[in-house]
Amino acid sequence: MTGVTVRVPAKLNLQLAVGPPRADGYHDLVTVFHAVSLFDEVAAEAAGRDGVTVTGEGADRVPAGPDNLVLRAAAALRKAVAGAAAGRRASIGADTAGVHITIAKRIPVAAGLAGGSADAAAALVACNELWDGGLSQPQLVEVAARVGSDVAFALLGGTAVGRGRGEQLTPALAPSTQYHWVLAFADGHLSTPEVYAALDRLRATRAGGAGGTAHASPAGPDLDAALMSALRSGEARLVGRALSNDLQPAALSLFPALRKTLAAGLELGALGALVAGSGPTCVFLAASADRALDLAVSLSGAGVCRSVARVTGPVAGAAIVPPSK
Ligand code: C5P
Repeated sequence: MTGVTVRVPAKLNLQLAVGPPRADGYHDLVTVFHAVSLFDEVAAEAAGRDGVTVTGEGADRVPAGPDNLVLRAAAALRKAVAGAAAGRRASIGADTAGVHITIAKRIPVAAGLAGGSADAAAALVACNELWDGGLSQPQLVEVAARVGSDVAFALLGGTAVGRGRGEQLTPALAPSTQYHWVLAFADGHLSTPEVYAALDRLRATRAGGAGGTAHASPAGPDLDAALMSALRSGEARLVGRALSNDLQPAALSLFPALRKTLAAGLELGALGALVAGSGPTCVFLAASADRALDLAVSLSGAGVCRSVARVTGPVAGAAIVPPSK
């Protein structure tokens, strides 16, 4: 086999409920992930040693060295494949030597859409195929969870509830409704750890102001029953009303211009609006494909974002692109 190409979607969080910081620095989450039709393509081919090339949207902001999440994913997979082969007492048939990974980016970098995690998930699928690793989807999900909080979901796709750091997933049984979203990309970036830290500070200030103590942190996050029932109904209007993101106030405190973007989308008739993950992309739900087109055109004319994209969801997770394509 000469090479393997995998297509992988961006994600939205239809709910992102964040608990207090844990001892390991992460936050317990309850989130509703939703994969949308904005894809990166990740190609893996055998090479003398591990390497990565990045092309496309925001490529200059992606590390090309061993810090790149795709190379960490390849290293984690190599270990898992060797472990699985040893467990089967098989001689390690798979040649897991060097791999060169090429990422063609369309998912903007540091935009709250988990593009880096998506690329890592795609690298797992591509290397498992290239190396004939034989890991099953559940085994890949296990490896993914070690690589990053959002990586496992990018394997699965669809709509799913995430708990823990976001890596413990349960697919959400939703009707086959297709939702129409407009993404407004910002002129700037936000760092995920900085947005979580800003949320902790906002909460500490609020607890202090209310006469609280350091213990006055929020209770464990809960799944939003209204959102789940809206998803079961398949009614976009109800889903739009139930969108929520605990990171939004923190993202807005670091990037105040997003308030204007969110307000503009709602004025232009979006059924719901929120910041994507840790931001700064803003997400709008439209009632139909036509309404999404109107909204996208009006938003780009309003001068409240760098560019817009129309996407639909849910879509499937990381999948191999047939060689003929
Ligand atoms: O797991 P990942 O590397 O994608 O997380 C990036 C950063 O986001 C973490 O280092 C942490 O600061 C923050 N984070 C968190 N709680 C989570 C997920 C991410 O605090 N559940």
